[in-house]
Amino acid sequence: MIKVLFVCLGNICRSPLAEGVFKQHVKEAGLENKFLIESAGTSGWHIDQSPDPRSIEVAKVNGIHLDSLGRKAISMDFELFDYIIAMDYNNFSDLKNLPGSSKDGAAKLYLMRDFDDLGKGEDVPDPYYGGDDGFVHVYEILDRSCQNLLNEIKKTHSIK
Ligand code: 4NP
Repeated sequence: MIKVLFVCLGNICRSPLAEGVFKQHVKEAGLENKFLIESAGTSGWHIDQSPDPRSIEVAKVNGIHLDSLGRKAISMDFELFDYIIAMDYNNFSDLKNLPGSSKDGAAKLYLMRDFDDLGKGEDVPDPYYGGDDGFVHVYEILDRSCQNLLNEIKKTHSIK
């Protein structure tokens, strides 16, 4: 089982959408039984909350149902997961500051757009305070990045 955790600030806009988009790519590749996929936030602001309606809507338009509930990222996630994917550099840095993030055997920490051919290493912009078009933009970034992330994981783990 390959375990992947997507992390943003609130766990209601970007990371639940990343979770849904990555699950869709995994499903299309017929690899559902090989993955555990979740999302979390560096803040605890939206614990047990459903994703933002605008993330739910852009997912729905693209044939994806979002059903996650908000939770906070914790040190234990570095023991449980193989890959932790931060949406932006602030999230990356907050995760790196969690005790245990650099221990032997801890999850590998990446930025989502390490896997984006257009804008490598940039932040996935936080769409929370903007309009619906921001969510469409985030969806497009996540769709490209998640496809490349899956290809990388398949290569690393010799999955056909
Ligand atoms: P997210 O977006 O980190 O992509 O889930 C945000 C959601 C909520 C807030 C900020 C960003 N907030 O300030 O409550």
